[in-house]
Amino acid sequence: MKILVIGSGGREHAIVRKLKESPKVEKLYCAPGNGGISQDAECVPVNAMDKDGMLNLVRERNIDFVFVAPDDPLAAGMVDFLEAAGIPCFGPNARAAEIESSKVFAKNMMKQHGIPTAEYQVFHSAEKALAYVRDRQKYPVVIKADGLALGKGVIIAGNEQEAEDTLHAILEDKKFGDSGNQVVVEEFLTGPEVSVLAFTDGKTLVPMVSSMDHKRAYDGDKGLNTGGMGTVSPNPFYTEEVAAECMEQIFLPTVNAMNAEERKFKGCLYFGLMITPDGPKVIEYNSRFGDPETQVVLPRLQTDFAEIVCAVAEERLSEISVEWSPKPCACVVMASGGYPGSYPKGLEIHGLDENGQVEGATVYHAGTKCEGDKFLTNGGRVLGITAMGDTLQQALDHAYAAVEKISFEGAMVRKDIGKRALEAGKLK
Ligand code: AMP
Ligand code: GLY
Repeated sequence: MKILVIGSGGREHAIVRKLKESPKVEKLYCAPGNGGISQDAECVPVNAMDKDGMLNLVRERNIDFVFVAPDDPLAAGMVDFLEAAGIPCFGPNARAAEIESSKVFAKNMMKQHGIPTAEYQVFHSAEKALAYVRDRQKYPVVIKADGLALGKGVIIAGNEQEAEDTLHAILEDKKFGDSGNQVVVEEFLTGPEVSVLAFTDGKTLVPMVSSMDHKRAYDGDKGLNTGGMGTVSPNPFYTEEVAAECMEQIFLPTVNAMNAEERKFKGCLYFGLMITPDGPKVIEYNSRFGDPETQVVLPRLQTDFAEIVCAVAEERLSEISVEWSPKPCACVVMASGGYPGSYPKGLEIHGLDENGQVEGATVYHAGTKCEGDKFLTNGGRVLGITAMGDTLQQALDHAYAAVEKISFEGAMVRKDIGKRALEAGKLK
C-alpha cells in the first residue's frame, strides 16, 4: 500500500514510524511533514488544509489510503472530500469531528446521553454568562470557547474579575474569532487527568494503553498551558477498575450516542478524562490522536498498525486483536525558548545524527526542518525524545539521558516528566 499521512508534528512522526514497520506498507508520504519525518517518508509541501492539493497528490502518486491526523483538516471535512472522490481514509468526517470542534455539541451530547461530565451552561452573550457566574459564586470557574482555538480556548478563571475579562475577550472582542461565538461555562473538577485514545469504527471500540500528558510549560505544573511538554504511558491512575468503569459509562455510551446522532465516528477517539472523587468524567473529547500522547502509545503497539487503520476504515475492527507491550514509555519534549508564547525559528540543533536521531532513544521531530545536512528548529515544540524501559523510571532515565546529548539555543525542557506517575505508582 501507498499511504499518505496528513500533518507535520511529533504525532505525525510517530504515526509514520509505526506505519513504516508494517509489511503492508510499500511507500509512505507525508504532507507537509517536517525535517525529521523526511527521513522516514517522502514529504510533499501540500498544506494540511488544502483539499484539492491533497486529492491531486493522491492521484499523481497513486496513493491508496490517507491518514488525516490533525484536528483542523478533520473539522474542515478533509475526510468527506477524499472519501467522496473514492479514497479510503483514517479519521472521522466533519460531522463526527464536531465532537472536538464544537464543545457545545459535545457537552449537549453528553448531557442527553447521560455521559458523566462537568455541570455546564451555554451562552452567546457575555452579559448573561457573567450574570450566571455571579449568581453561582463558585470559583474557580471554567470558561471554554466553543470551537477550535489552538489548544488555548479553555480558561480557568479564579475570580469574578477574571471571568468577566475572559467572557468579554471571547464573546465580544472575538479573541478566538468565530470559535468564540458561544462559550461553555462549567464547573471546575478536581482529580488526576488521564488520556485514553481508542480505535473505533463506529461499531467496535478498542481502547489503547493509557497515558498522562504534562500540559503546563514549567516544572511543578507551573506556567501557561501548552500543547503538551511530555507524556508517559501507562497512567497509574487508570486502574483496571477505572478502565472498566470508563468502558461502561463513557466509551461505549459515546460510540452509541454518536451513532444515535447520525454522526458515526470512525478513527481515533481521544478521551480526556478526570478521575474525580465521584468517578471518571469527560473533560474533553478529541477527534484524533493526541500529541504528545501518540509518541508514548504507538511505540507500545505490537499489532500491525496499517492493518488496524484499514480495518477501522472498512468497519471490521472486531476482526483484529490489538496487542500491546507491557513496557512503559516516556516522551520528553524539547521546546523553543519562549514557547507557548513567541519564539525564534531556524536555530541549529546539535547532537542529532544524520537521520535526526540519537542513540538510546527515538527522536520524534515536531518542529524541525532540514537545511543541507543540518536540522534547524521550526516550531514551538521541536523534538519529542522517547524511550521505553522495563520500568517507568528506566524509560525516563533513557529519555533524559538522550535529551542531554541534544542542544539548541534557548531549549526548554521540563525536568519532572513522569514524576507524578512515579509517585502514584509507589503509593500502590
Ligand atoms: P482542554 O483544552 O480541553 O484540554 O483543557 C485544558 C485543560 O484545562 C485540561 O487538561 C484540564 O487540566 C483543564 N480543564 C478543562 N476543563 C476543566 C474542568 N471542568 N475542571 C478542571 N479543569 C479543567
Ligand atoms: N496533548 C493534548 C492534545 O493532543 O490535545
